[in-house]
Amino acid sequence: MSKDKTYIIGNWKMNNNIHDSSMLVHKLANTIKVRRDVEVVLAPVSLALQAISLQINRRQFKLAAQNFYWRDEGAFTGEISAYQLKGLVDYAIVGHSERRHIFAENDKDIRSKVQAALRNDIKPILCVGETASERANNETKDVLSDQILGGLANVASNEIKNVIIAYEPVWAIGTGNFASPDDAVAAARIIRTQIRHLYGEEISHKVPVLYGGSVSTDNASAYLNCIELDGLLIGGSSLNSYDFSEIVKKAHNTDKKAVKK
Ligand code: PGA
Repeated sequence: MSKDKTYIIGNWKMNNNIHDSSMLVHKLANTIKVRRDVEVVLAPVSLALQAISLQINRRQFKLAAQNFYWRDEGAFTGEISAYQLKGLVDYAIVGHSERRHIFAENDKDIRSKVQAALRNDIKPILCVGETASERANNETKDVLSDQILGGLANVASNEIKNVIIAYEPVWAIGTGNFASPDDAVAAARIIRTQIRHLYGEEISHKVPVLYGGSVSTDNASAYLNCIELDGLLIGGSSLNSYDFSEIVKKAHNTDKKAVKK
């Protein structure tokens, strides 16, 4: 775990037009303090990235793309590439369950996107997580291991320091049915074990592992206090300026302790 920084990432999904996005950033800018120990990342709709990049203080907020296509350029109508996002965003979400399940992205697509992000100096936030039926069948460990292996297959050991992993169980996303901190920590341990197999002990402790799935002001501290978790990927609660700011506040100087199993 990388204890030097806590990541709070707001995934706005397909909500807010350019004007609404700008208004939300304005409110957040008034309530969120710049803190060295908390990296606050906003992932608005791609359309709003340019406007927001001119509006924000980059020490206060970093930007993330929610999606992009893995080729750098060419005849791919409607797509945006990591090459085109370079300089505009610091991060990009890759492998989100909505991309995997609604848009049928597979491990090969996700692996290509991780590569494309890294090649364009964008840090991929690789999302992994099991579905409800996989969980019921005790397949969580295999699913997470496969998704980590699949997503990172071409990532060299000098690149892995630029990757963030988010554990987002599919059954917890947008449902209000969040994972217990114990379950999130157990998943983070599976993820780190897989990273240790691929890159060794030292790196396995440095790659940030976040939790996402129905995070709210009520449950955020329970995850933030776990030493195995390096932050949160937040959907619904990131659209409310008060809630998101409260969660960022909680992330500052959290009382991190290992969850004992
Ligand atoms: P949620 O979404 O917080 O609304 O559950 C999380 C996510 O999809 O990243």
